[in-house]
Formats: sequence, structure tokens, C-alpha cells
Amino acid sequence: MVTIRPVRPEDRDAVHALLADLGYPKVEAKAFLRVFADILVAEYRSLVVAEADGKILGFLCCTRQPTLRLGGDQLLIDELVVADAARGKGTGKALLAWARDHAKGLGAKRIELHTSRKRDSYTRGFYKKQGFAEADSALFRIEL
Ligand SMILES: CC(C)(COP(=O)(O)OP(=O)(O)OC[C@H]1O[C@@H](n2cnc3c(N)ncnc32)[C@H](O)[C@@H]1OP(=O)(O)O)[C@@H](O)C(=O)NCCC(=O)NCCS
Repeated sequence: MVTIRPVRPEDRDAVHALLADLGYPKVEAKAFLRVFADILVAEYRSLVVAEADGKILGFLCCTRQPTLRLGGDQLLIDELVVADAARGKGTGKALLAWARDHAKGLGAKRIELHTSRKRDSYTRGFYKKQGFAEADSALFRIEL
């Protein structure tokens, strides 16, 4: 059975390894550890892991964003991943269900998630199945 629980400092290697399954294999250990430590103490951020039989199968990281135009908070799901070998067994669904409950607990007005249209999960309609509606938004970036 999968349990969703807050991350612990000792989960760092498992979380680092999962970045490869998310498609980011080259995050250097020192840089990762700095950000991981920041997230552990950040008031607005939450990082939870999915665990079964002592093994970390996935994680979800999200941010509570007080948002003026909503007159309330939105919960942004920053990262969501399930290990390649553990997919298709309900773990992703369980992580999103946690995010939904968390957002409700915070009294948030919206949950938002950005993803690539090239990802399998997008093509297979994973988010729509989980109750998300696709927004008509453009995402702009400056890489620094
Ligand atoms: C997207 C992801 C988190 C889904 O996790 P998962 O544990 O495989 O998903 P689940 O087993 O909970 O599947 C839930 C539903 O989606 C379907 N599904 C399973 N794998 C899927 C996939 N790769 N893509 C889309 N739908 C999928 C399941 O059939 C299930 O449907 P059902 O409820 O009708 O049975 C996982 O595939 C993943 O980590 N992908 C790579 C990283 C990624 O795309 N992250 C999101 C970017 S923000």
C-alpha cells in the first residue's frame, strides 16, 4: 500500500534519483542539496513522497501562492513524478489526491500545474482524468 507523507531529510537521495525519471538527469548533487534544504524549511512549499514497503516511489512538490486576482491562494504543483518502474499502479493519482486535500485544507481557490504537451502523461489525458481542465494560457520564460 502506498503512503503519502512529508519528505524527511534522509529521503534526499531517493528524491534526487527521481529527477532522472522526471526527465532531469543532470541536476548536480551540491546544487540539488542546497535547493532540497531550502524546500525543507520554506513556509510556502510542501514536498511529499509516496512510499511503499520502505521504498520511495514518487514525489510531489507544490507551492501555496497568495494570489491577488483570486482574492485567495492557489496551489501550484511544481513537480510530480513517479519512478518509471512504479507507474500505472495509482501512485500518481494518490499524490494528486493528496495535493487536492492539501489545497482544500489551506482554503485555496485553485490548483495549477504546468506540463509539456510532449509528455506521455499529457498525451494520455492523465490530468483531465484527474479532474483538471486545460487552460488557454501561454507560458513565457527567460532562462538565466
Ligand atoms: C504522470 C505520472 C506522475 C503518473 O503517475 P502514475 O503513478 O503512473 O499514474 P497512476 O498509476 O496513478 O495513473 C492514474 C491514471 O492515469 C493512467 N496512466 C497511467 N500511467 C499514465 C501515464 N504515463 N500517462 C498518462 N496516464 C497514465 C492510469 O491508467 C490511470 O487511469 P485510470 O484512473 O483510468 O485507471 C507518471 O507517469 C510520471 O511520473 N511521468 C513522468 C513525469 C511527468 O510527466 N510528470 C508530470 C510533469 S509535471
